[in-house]
Amino acid sequence: MELKNIEFPNADLNFIDNPYPALKDFREESPVFYDEKSDLIYLTKYEDVKSIQSSKKYVSAKPANLEGDREWDSRKKAYDYFGRTEEFSLLNLEGSAHNELRGLVAKAFSIRQVELLRPFIENKSREILDPLIGSSFDLIHDYAQPFSIAIMGELLGVPESRYDDFLRWSNDIVRMYDLQVSEENAEIAEKSAEEFYFYTDSLIDEKLKEPGDDMITRLANVTENDQKLSKDQIICTAILLLNAGHEATVNTIGNGISALISNDIETKSLNEEYDVKNIVEELLRWDSPLQFFQRWSLEDTEVRGYKIPKNAKVAILLGSANRDDEIFKNAKEINFQRENLNHTSFGGGMHFCLGAHLARLELEASFNNLFEYSWNLEAKPERTGAFGIRGFKKVMVSA
Ligand code: HEM
Repeated sequence: MELKNIEFPNADLNFIDNPYPALKDFREESPVFYDEKSDLIYLTKYEDVKSIQSSKKYVSAKPANLEGDREWDSRKKAYDYFGRTEEFSLLNLEGSAHNELRGLVAKAFSIRQVELLRPFIENKSREILDPLIGSSFDLIHDYAQPFSIAIMGELLGVPESRYDDFLRWSNDIVRMYDLQVSEENAEIAEKSAEEFYFYTDSLIDEKLKEPGDDMITRLANVTENDQKLSKDQIICTAILLLNAGHEATVNTIGNGISALISNDIETKSLNEEYDVKNIVEELLRWDSPLQFFQRWSLEDTEVRGYKIPKNAKVAILLGSANRDDEIFKNAKEINFQRENLNHTSFGGGMHFCLGAHLARLELEASFNNLFEYSWNLEAKPERTGAFGIRGFKKVMVSA
């Protein structure tokens, strides 16, 4: 079957405010379609998203022999430091280059090492939240951001005096990841990528002289078959960990609390009624903080009878997959007793989120502390305006 050409409304603010009714229509009427403007084939159904994530016929990185994706290529070329920080990003590597780097990073980032951070994470959450109780505050700016940055700083071994820079770099660089990027945002991202690049470079030198009990020290020393990571590989990995680890966690806290309040779910003692682990998974499913990722097809394939040609760019819509009624019964309802918790919010296949265990720990600690109170929204939260990275600018709450 030929693909229908449909414009994906990724810049429409009404769609961004609540994309789920339109995504449901796509799933029911045109589950696979082509958008000429973004030159992407969109996949909206859970089974299709899952099968692409684990298929060897699709890759994250643009095949080297391909001209395509002019916009992304020129973005990387025109913005030198942004390009450098992307060169060894796990998200852009495939095959043995990906396996080798992922193996080394995973060794330096084991479940055991993350568990050692548990007391720090639980204390940090209390330390930031406790003084805010009794007044109205912005859950994103006053709690989620400083909390998540402190965890990433502790993980990577960055001194507290640089946390503000860290936050700015992360916020600036992720501007480059949306479907369309203005020149102004690209320049802001480039400047922060440059500062981050040189800062991490000097931090690695410091850690080599004076090792610490942190991820950058471990990345600088980790070996497999006598192989070590190069400095550029460590820089790219540190930057990826900060960007991948920070924004999605912050947005899950904002999306989650806002979802509970808007759905009239009493937050006080919610974790006594249901297991906090189930609450975290259901909130991640219900409003995924990362809505789409891109893949390239390596050969001609078919999805639901639609032809996907070799070298096509495919968008896999994680948030849409998570609302697929064929997989999640009454998917638009928040239900903490769901048996199927197998959402796609952490991805799947070779690129499955390497920080899922850390994210879950941060979210459980945050929600356990937040669920000591009944929360109210002080104003309607305002979305950031981006589709891919789904979150709020501000969530004014009071307990
Ligand atoms: C709620 C929080 C988080 C969500 C929803 C999330 C989601 C994801 C998703 C969907 C992917 C797969 C991307 C793809 O398929 O191309 C991914 C990859 C990744 N995530 Fe996370 N993530 C979260 C938190 C974290 C944290 C805390 C860290 C680390 C500190 C982290 C590190 C990574 C890394 C390194 C990858 C790349 C893995 C690879 O390409 O092999 N993430 N994440």
